[in-house]
Amino acid sequence: MRVVVSIGGSVLVPAADADNVGPYASVLEDIADDHDLGVVVGGGPTARTYIERARELGANEIELDQLGVDVTRLNARLLLAALDDRSPATPIETHERAREVFRQGDVPVMGGTVAGHTTDAVATALAEYVDADLLVYATSVPGVFDADPERDDDATMYDTLTAAELVDVVASIEMAAGSNAPVDLLAAKLLHRSGLHATVVDGSEPATVSAAVAGEHDGTDIRPA
Ligand code: UTP
Repeated sequence: MRVVVSIGGSVLVPAADADNVGPYASVLEDIADDHDLGVVVGGGPTARTYIERARELGANEIELDQLGVDVTRLNARLLLAALDDRSPATPIETHERAREVFRQGDVPVMGGTVAGHTTDAVATALAEYVDADLLVYATSVPGVFDADPERDDDATMYDTLTAAELVDVVASIEMAAGSNAPVDLLAAKLLHRSGLHATVVDGSEPATVSAAVAGEHDGTDIRPA
């Protein structure tokens, strides 16, 4: 199976002294033993801290995005420090290069690419580009809810939904300033057009990701219509 795993920075590096990276590397190596694998890493709280500081210092939004991309690549390097030789030594910066590495049977690790979106979109585009059978979003939430669970006590989680329904859900959550959608709107739209099968799981425990690859999870399955 061809698999792309998108690991939120908030689950890979929730704090500078957290020890999730080693266990994540082991889980990813196990997945790569049985499947073709690509990995995309997010920026998490470190990116948010740097972006907030730089905003106070007067950086504009594109500059802040570029700072965010750098932090995602920093986190990707941390993961690379723990991964075996199947991954090239540096974070892959373009989808073209990532696909070349993937097709050689190695494991590309990307952070962000360019300003204007998040690593959810990077991972979704990679999954579309390599024609992945499964895209796993390892996030800090249990799955996709019909409203922002942080703000709405009545929010209910979907076991499964179509990509078209995901676009509507994410668009309505993103309309509320400060709300957090489980994946960004561009990622949802790329999923919709690509017909990919994706899964959103709580990635706090790395084993959740290997279970999701095996089809066993308590998160949300997103299927083409
Ligand atoms: P993340 O992908 O980590 O954002 O990118 P996120 O989804 O909010 O955080 P986690 O990791 O799931 O907790 C961090 C920031 O980097 C910039 C954006 O500003 C984004 O908010 N970024 C990232 C880009 O501009 N382009 C990219 O390709 C990736």
